Formats: sequence, C-alpha cells, structure tokens
Amino acid sequence: MTILITGGRGKIARAVQAGLSSRGREVRVASREPAELPGAVALDPADLSSWSIALKDVSQVFLYSDPSTATVFVEAAEAAGVQQVVLLSSLASQADNRNAAADPHSAAEREILSGSFATTLLQPGTFMTNAIFWSYQVRATGQIRLPYLEAEEAPIHEQDIADVAIKVLLDGPGSTHDGRAYPMTGPESMTRRHQIYLITELTGVPIEPVDLTPDQAREEMASSMRNPAQLESLMSYWASRVGSPHPIEPTVELVTGHAGRTFVTWLNDNQTAFK
Ligand SMILES: NC(=O)c1ccc[n+]([C@@H]2O[C@H](COP(=O)([O-])OP(=O)(O)OC[C@H]3O[C@@H](n4cnc5c(N)ncnc54)[C@H](OP(=O)(O)O)[C@@H]3O)[C@@H](O)[C@H]2O)c1
Repeated sequence: MTILITGGRGKIARAVQAGLSSRGREVRVASREPAELPGAVALDPADLSSWSIALKDVSQVFLYSDPSTATVFVEAAEAAGVQQVVLLSSLASQADNRNAAADPHSAAEREILSGSFATTLLQPGTFMTNAIFWSYQVRATGQIRLPYLEAEEAPIHEQDIADVAIKVLLDGPGSTHDGRAYPMTGPESMTRRHQIYLITELTGVPIEPVDLTPDQAREEMASSMRNPAQLESLMSYWASRVGSPHPIEPTVELVTGHAGRTFVTWLNDNQTAFK
C-alpha cells in the first residue's frame, strides 16, 4: 500500500519522502502546485474529489495541518480506508488554546482525531528553517529585524521532525504511536540574538541585529503573516519567553534513537543561504 505525503513542496515533506523512499516504501507526493514538483499529484485540499484521487490505494498519510480542510480530509480518508495519519501540527496547540483564529492547529487536531484511523500528532516548536527568511533580510540589508531578540527558543531541525514522522509511518498503525501527541523541540534553548551571533560566527557574514518594538514588528510582519490573531499569539509567546529558557522536549531522541540536531548543524547544512 502507498503512503501519501501532502505539502509536497515543503522541506519536511521532501525529507519524509526521501526517508521513506530510501527504505523501499511506496510513496505518493501531493502538492497544491504539482507543476513545480515532477511526479507529484495535484491536490486541492478543500476539494473532496481531489482527495479521493490522491488517496486511491493509500493506507497511511503524512498530513499538513489546515482546520479549514480537515473535515473534507477525514471524509475522504475514511472512504478510502486510510489506516494511519501523521499530522504535522504545532507546539502551540499544547497550550490547548480554543481560539481557532489564534491557533489553527488545535482546531485541525480535534478534527483529525475524530477520524476512524490511527492518528499521531507531531507538535514541533519553532523551526530552525525559519532562519531562511532571516537570510533574505541579511542579503538585502545586512540586518535581521525581529521583535523580542532576547526571547528564548529551542528551534528544531526539519530533518528531526521528518525523522520522527518516518519512524511513526514505518512502525505503522497499531503501534505505540497511535493516539499520541508528540511535543518536539530542538536540543538547546537560546535567545534569538544568540542565533544571529551563531550565524555570523559560522558564516563570517556580518549581521546587524535590530530589536523591533512590538508595534514595528506588527507593521513589518503584517504582509507575511496575514492572520492578525495568530501574529498576536506569537507576539505574546515571544514576550513570555524573554529571560525564560525554553523547556527541551526529548521526543526526537526517544522516538528515533538519535539526539536532536543543533542549530550549528543546521547552519552547516545551510551556510550558502547567508552569502
Ligand atoms: N515555521 C515554524 O516555526 C513552525 C513551527 C511549528 C509548526 N509549524 C507548522 O508547520 C507547517 C509547515 O510550516 P512551514 O513553515 O514549513 O510552512 P510552509 O513552508 O508555508 O509550508 C510548507 C508546505 O505546506 C504545504 N501547505 C501550506 N499550506 C497548506 C494548506 N493550507 N493545505 C495543505 N498544504 C499546505 C505547501 O505544500 P504544497 O504547496 O506543495 O502543497 C507548502 O509548501 C505549518 O502548518 C506551520 O504552521 C511551523
């Protein structure tokens, strides 16, 4: 049977595909923009018939989270006889925030958990790969402009998220992962300012960190984060993490057997982004 991987153009989906394919599993990649991804099937996540085509002969799914399309997915997945879903959610949902606008992930989790298939929730915190967006600023202006530079994060490498997803899918439905929620972080807590310091130290690229006021940040981030409630939720989260080391979740090591990758490893993997 086939494993469907949604969100095909995303970094995590690509790593999940590579990991499963290299272990001989039959995978089908779905994307909203299949033209950009040779071999991928087209998927309109809001459309039941699109899911029905993508889910033909599929027993397991790696699913990107979207509360607005979760009901359609559950209907299609049950009709197709899907047995296991691994949902890429967010650590934000651990706060059990019932405000769907501020935290779309917990709404999606509730919907997917209502399905008759086995479900595992992956709940990663901040992705290391967010630094790719910082690299665009560095290349354009030599600056990284962020609010709450002293906020502590424990960013996680996208390969570690993928490794957990791969392990859960390889173990399959009926394993100890059924019904579990896996909060996930990277192995170390550090401020956003320290992350910028490490980028300069490793790449040699001089960077001016600019500590934006919350209002400056709201203005500068409005175009990239179109959900104002989610933006406000993020701002409160960063404010709460100033002077407060981020708790480290052991999930990556417990599930995969290897330690979580450090931010320095991620920078070595992505050095050219800043040059
Ligand atoms: N960035 C973080 O720090 C962070 C932390 C915790 C959780 N998350 C969550 O992890 C997920 C991926 O985050 P990211 O930053 O990697 O996002 P991204 O780059 O915006 O999205 C990655 C891929 O997800 C697919 N996708 C996006 N919106 C979708 C939708 N509504 N329905 C189906 N597929 C969709 C797209 O694939 P195709 O266009 O190929 O279909 C896209 O290429 C998001 O749900 C995000 O909220 C992110």
